[in-house]
Amino acid sequence: MWVDGAARVSCVTPVRRVAGRSVTTLEGWADDRRDRWVAAFMATGASQCGFCTPGILMRLAALEAGDRPVTRPAIEAALRAHLCRCTGWQSIVEAGCRALGLTEPTTSDTAERDPLLGSWRAQIEGPAFQSSRPDVILGGGGFADDSCPAGALVQLGATVGADDANHTLAPPARDMRAAKEGTGRIQGRNSTIPLAHPVPLPEGEWAITLQTTWVEPAYVEPDASWSYPDAPPASSLANGGAFGGKRRSPVPAQARALADEAGAPVRVLWRREDVVRLGPKRPPLALGLRTDGTGILRVGRTAGSPDLQALHERVRYVAPGMTIEEADITGPPVSADLRGAGWAEILAALHVVASPFTEPGTGRADVTLPEGGRATVAIAGATGSDRRTLAVEVWAGEILDEVTLRSYTLGAVHQALGLVWSEGIALDDHGVPVDLTIRSFGILAARDMPEVTVRIHQDDTWPVNGSDAVFVATLAAAWMAEGRPPRWPTRRTGGRAHEGTVPTSAVPPSAVREEQA
Ligand code: FES
Repeated sequence: MWVDGAARVSCVTPVRRVAGRSVTTLEGWADDRRDRWVAAFMATGASQCGFCTPGILMRLAALEAGDRPVTRPAIEAALRAHLCRCTGWQSIVEAGCRALGLTEPTTSDTAERDPLLGSWRAQIEGPAFQSSRPDVILGGGGFADDSCPAGALVQLGATVGADDANHTLAPPARDMRAAKEGTGRIQGRNSTIPLAHPVPLPEGEWAITLQTTWVEPAYVEPDASWSYPDAPPASSLANGGAFGGKRRSPVPAQARALADEAGAPVRVLWRREDVVRLGPKRPPLALGLRTDGTGILRVGRTAGSPDLQALHERVRYVAPGMTIEEADITGPPVSADLRGAGWAEILAALHVVASPFTEPGTGRADVTLPEGGRATVAIAGATGSDRRTLAVEVWAGEILDEVTLRSYTLGAVHQALGLVWSEGIALDDHGVPVDLTIRSFGILAARDMPEVTVRIHQDDTWPVNGSDAVFVATLAAAWMAEGRPPRWPTRRTGGRAHEGTVPTSAVPPSAVREEQA
């Protein structure tokens, strides 16, 4: 929202602070401003699930009225107070440049996109239903907590006891204020505890080894649902399902059970801290690999995790020479549902072990998935440079909607680079996550991203997923460019310590304050 014309994060702004001041939300925009920004976001594919988008629109449009020059670095800096988990930032920066007049519109800006073809492509990439209609950009993605009936009872978060594995639900309260007062508060914080790699490497003579750590999927909308008694609960998957992160969210069943018990509608909403402590994580791995493609993959598994059979099956399918072992570790639940969990790391490792060494700072991978999606990724740039360039080519059958496929390609690059470079969460001695804010997850900001060029090849075959091949190829190319170190992430050891990241002096102080809040 804007407060007296300046962008502010509404969710951390108490109402008392805006008493007597002018507050503008997206709904208060004039039609021409709204149309211009929606057209820019549609043209570049800057919105996928759409949860982050209205806030980003307000932030970027506020630059027009600011007293600083509007530049691409200013746009990237303004985005530091936000998180988009879907799009990989570049398409958002491009949309901002178009709407703010930094780049000329091209013919593709004005080309009509067919939202049905966009949704079809998104569903292949997601893989869950996703609307690509313009109203998603304005907040119309259909998020569960937006559609909750007025007057519903509220169950906020989970009451976490001394034993996190046996957490209990707080009973629903009459409204949000009462729910907040009645719920034990978990203080969001960033730790300085080093990241752990909890799964021991398998014994053996290996050509290459890799250990990974706990990674938070970091979907932007925390788990939410609501239900009438004796009725199906609202889906927490919203517009896309967060790349598998919320596929097994418990909140819809909780909303239904609480509504049945209360005989009234109940709204269930997790806080960010609940998501980090209780939601599924990407499983930490350890693998040893020989040059002939055989080896051992150890998958960390905690008590309370769902069955990892899907991960076993997928790894056996893409890497039949691997032996899979599960290792019992202590920590939050892990899941095979998250994008490429386990099998993407294995495929990247198979590619790297079969590839010649490259110049420092460079890497190249060409990956074809069994279903037919193919991607090449080439990373170039001087050693130590923070602004490398990355060239991606994608083959995914019939393109359907190029803007959507490009957006998913950029998003896959962002997620994969984050996994290799910087993402992870620290746990305490009892296996409880202690990095509880979005800032502490190590997610790459817009300014941390290399310039990515994308070329999509058209062919007349049936459309297949392309962004998973991009994800795997980026993992492999980035790992090669880092010199094939045996642990990910490669550029972070503690809760917040980044090496070679952006200078914070480039970030407006107000953005830093809001981000910290
Ligand atoms: Fe940004 Fe989904 S579009 S979080």
